[in-house]
Amino acid sequence: MATAEQIKALIRSHLNMNAEQFNTSALQIAAHEARQGHDVLANEIKDMVDQARKKPTANNVIAFPQELTGLILTEQPERSLASLVVEDALKKRIERVVLEFRQQHKLKKHGLHHRRKLLFSGEPGTGKTMTAQVLAAELKQPLHIIQIDRLVTKFMGETGAKLRQIFERIRAISGVYLFDEFDAIGGERDLGNDVGEMRRVLNAFLQFIENDTSDNLIIAATNNPKLLDRALFRRFDDILQYAMPDGESCKHLIANLLGTFRSPQFPLDKAAQASQGLSHSEIDRACRDAIKMAILSNNSRVTYASFTALLKERHVAYKKKEG
Ligand SMILES: Nc1ncnc2c1ncn2[C@@H]1O[C@H](COP(=O)(O)OP(=O)(O)O)[C@@H](O)[C@H]1O
Ligand SMILES: [Mg+2]
Repeated sequence: MATAEQIKALIRSHLNMNAEQFNTSALQIAAHEARQGHDVLANEIKDMVDQARKKPTANNVIAFPQELTGLILTEQPERSLASLVVEDALKKRIERVVLEFRQQHKLKKHGLHHRRKLLFSGEPGTGKTMTAQVLAAELKQPLHIIQIDRLVTKFMGETGAKLRQIFERIRAISGVYLFDEFDAIGGERDLGNDVGEMRRVLNAFLQFIENDTSDNLIIAATNNPKLLDRALFRRFDDILQYAMPDGESCKHLIANLLGTFRSPQFPLDKAAQASQGLSHSEIDRACRDAIKMAILSNNSRVTYASFTALLKERHVAYKKKEG
């Protein structure tokens, strides 16, 4: 029979809602039973744990360690691939991730693995986080966003240990995992920490990624293209580069966002031209603000004048942010 310590550990992990600790304790009991020659019982326990690890239950979803709450945001996004405005080539690569994920069993039969370790790189507000949301929605998986910069600031010297806990979750709980603002540990950005420590954390992170053998999508997003050295490339199955929107993309975005608030006379080409230099996110906001303005002044359509005035605001804000 299991020892008193093992039973207590099992109860404790259940009360703490720590699913992985629970599984570990159960496996320790299985090992204990196996040593006593109780192979049937040991195998039954192991099978139960294996099954539980494969299944994303509601319990699993909230099973992040308490101290990580607030640093990991879990959501169930509902964003369509159609609303993401990116170059065709990039869209095709995103579609390929979805296709391979959906047909991973087919690939596995031939000893192949779906691409799932992804690096997103590009300027802020160009759709990196949105892509993670779209992927989670398309694959009907929860999205777990890990705020790396906050993790580093909060735990300093312990970041490596926290990352280990997170990767243990990844092994146990299915979902799309986004390590956002990943440059906090990768770049030269100074957080008042010593650089050696950051290097170690980055290396630990890359090692965790490399060692991960789950089926989950793991995405690292960075605004800092300097990160893209060879050592990084090796670790990822795919690297997606995000760019500021070109004229066509601006047009597409504005048309999508204004929807029925755009009159047939609205000069889309001119609006797109006036938007050049802004990110998708800035254009998104200008469009929403323009719609709000129309609603509040009891108009059913956005006027070009109000739209360009709002764009101007965004341009000014953008310049300030850059400078
Ligand atoms: N490529 C895009 N297509 C459509 N909307 C976008 C795109 N990029 C950004 N947006 C809009 O701006 C918001 C913020 O963008 P986000 O994905 O967080 O940018 P990033 O993660 O690259 O900094 C998104 O939620 C979306 O509403
Ligand atoms: Mg982002």
